[in-house]
Amino acid sequence: MKKKLLFWILLFGFALPAVGSAEERWLPLPPASIGEWYKPKNERQVWLHTMFALRREMQAVAEYAASGDRDLLQKWGARFVAHYRKIAEMVPEWRDELDYEGLQQLQDAVDQGDPERVAAALKTIGRSCSSCHREFRATTAMIYRTPDFGKIRVQGGSGEPARDYPEVMQELSALVNRIKIASDDARHEAGLVALAQLNRRLDQLASSCGECHRDAPPESRILGELTREALAGLEQGLKQGDQKLAGRSLGSAAVYACARCHAIHRAPYDMRERLLR
Ligand code: HEC
Ligand code: HEC
Ligand code: HEC
Repeated sequence: MKKKLLFWILLFGFALPAVGSAEERWLPLPPASIGEWYKPKNERQVWLHTMFALRREMQAVAEYAASGDRDLLQKWGARFVAHYRKIAEMVPEWRDELDYEGLQQLQDAVDQGDPERVAAALKTIGRSCSSCHREFRATTAMIYRTPDFGKIRVQGGSGEPARDYPEVMQELSALVNRIKIASDDARHEAGLVALAQLNRRLDQLASSCGECHRDAPPESRILGELTREALAGLEQGLKQGDQKLAGRSLGSAAVYACARCHAIHRAPYDMRERLLR
């Protein structure tokens, strides 16, 4: 009897966690062919610009239908129809997502210049936009438009090799915690040594932002004035043995420099990696 119970425990013990332990969400990924319409495979973000064009054209069609401007209605109607058809030319796997019946209704309504029928057809077609967006928009943006940190190398000091992001980040994290531990234990000298190292590493990290950013603001928003002030406060706190000042300043620096950059860059990059692997 006991043996049998053990058997079931073992069976379910092994079998259940895979299905029942963590809550899961199912997310469909876009067909790989959409990658042809994004950098770096394409020179331009063709897919995204087609989408912006569709939204603009829908607006023009609706507004010119309402104002009764037949020529301009025809002009923007033709543009819309062409771009809408282009979706399936670019990603053939998505042909079934399109509403060709609605498109024909729109074409007829535009030809007749009937504002009510134009509005009704746009509404019908709009459902095909929303339905595809609900399924694929987030994952597509995540996969094809999230900056890739996998190839970024951060230069070290003279004689030091360039290092990849995970390695640089682990050292930053160790330094921040070393400072915190030293400050808590009133080992201020040790804290100051680690702080000097942290400052040096953050300067090196800042020079690597230029691998992608051509303008200064993104780097200075994260590693500029606010962060420098917080780190200066930290140095003062350590020198004066003021644990409160040191703790508060370290917390601020961690928000300005680490948490904000992680909100912008780390979370999406992490998600992208999960979606691709
Ligand atoms: C078969 C799928 C599909 C259909 C149909 C589709 N889209 Fe999109 N659309 C996408 C995907 C995928 C993205 C995400 C692209 C990205 O962020 O890089 C997107 C993004 C967009 C965006 C930019 C994101 C935003 O909200 O600012 C706009 C605007 C847009 N679509 C408009 C439209 C309109 C208007 C229609 C219908 C006339 C339409 N789309 C139909 C797949 C589709
Ligand atoms: C792999 C490429 C890449 C690297 C490396 C990179 N970024 Fe970005 N970052 C982008 C892209 C793309 C955007 C979105 C468009 C833009 O703002 O250029 C962005 C946006 C931002 C933004 C939001 C926009 C703004 O100006 O406020 C901030 C802040 C930022 N990055 C900070 C940084 C910092 C700090 C570093 C270096 C420590 C860095 N980035 C390194 C690609 C990168
Ligand atoms: C570009 C802006 C940026 C700044 C500034 C930044 N990080 Fe990161 N951090 C990242 C990115 C991107 C990753 C993901 C790297 C990867 O997974 O390859 C990351 C990952 C990490 C990780 C996980 C490393 C691992 O084991 O994979 C730690 C820990 C970390 N950061 C700590 C910090 C600390 C502490 C600071 C501030 C002193 C900081 N980071 C500042 C962008 C940044």
